[in-house]
Amino acid sequence: MRADIELMPQDVPDRKGEGKVFVVIDVLRATTTIIEALSNGCTDVIPVVTVDEAFDLAKRLPREETLIGGERGGLKVKGFDLGNSPSEYTRDVVCGKRVVLTTTNGTKALRSVAGCENVLVAGFTNAHAVVQRCLAMNANPVMVPAGGKGKFSLEDVVCGGMMMDLLKRGGVALTDAARASCILYKAFAHDLLEMARNSEHGGKLIQLGLEEDLAFCVQTDISSSVPSFREGSVRLG
Ligand code: MLT
Repeated sequence: MRADIELMPQDVPDRKGEGKVFVVIDVLRATTTIIEALSNGCTDVIPVVTVDEAFDLAKRLPREETLIGGERGGLKVKGFDLGNSPSEYTRDVVCGKRVVLTTTNGTKALRSVAGCENVLVAGFTNAHAVVQRCLAMNANPVMVPAGGKGKFSLEDVVCGGMMMDLLKRGGVALTDAARASCILYKAFAHDLLEMARNSEHGGKLIQLGLEEDLAFCVQTDISSSVPSFREGSVRLG
């Protein structure tokens, strides 16, 4: 097995996923929110790219079983049920419900690997469980940090680096990019919250009054859920 990470977000149409498992990471906040929703009994999350798509799809689904969530500019969209703070996705809100989700970068990253057979959803909150799943699958892991509007994002690559460190301990070979992410993780491992606070997107969320989300999103291994994205929706199992 050999693990790789796309340090820069890539726009690759029709990715070929044979023998690979793609691991999508958007620590702040889309994948952390998806993990939290599914851990709290949400039946499935359908990631869509645009706000119009979210409204159109939700209209075709049973209203009482469907929530629309996500953000633009970090804030809840007018007419949506939920924003993109993982702490909104509590058991009493999401249990037994489906969530149609659109976010600026995270759901786009998920859609970019929609045609691939093996796609997992990761953040700090479930990093260890995702690594265990990758090892059990015996496929080559490719981490896909969502980034920010096509640019590198520190928190996603540091999270990828944490998983690379665990994969390496599990005997997996690392590409140069994967090794670099591992080194970056080790540089920040002593204070992930500070790393998130000083990241570009973390700074924006603080300005929006969403600093509590940062503390939530850097919690390590609070969930054993491993969401996978298949046939248009993200589910556990
Ligand atoms: C995204 O998808 O770009 C993020 O999840 C944005 C956010 O912090 O809500």
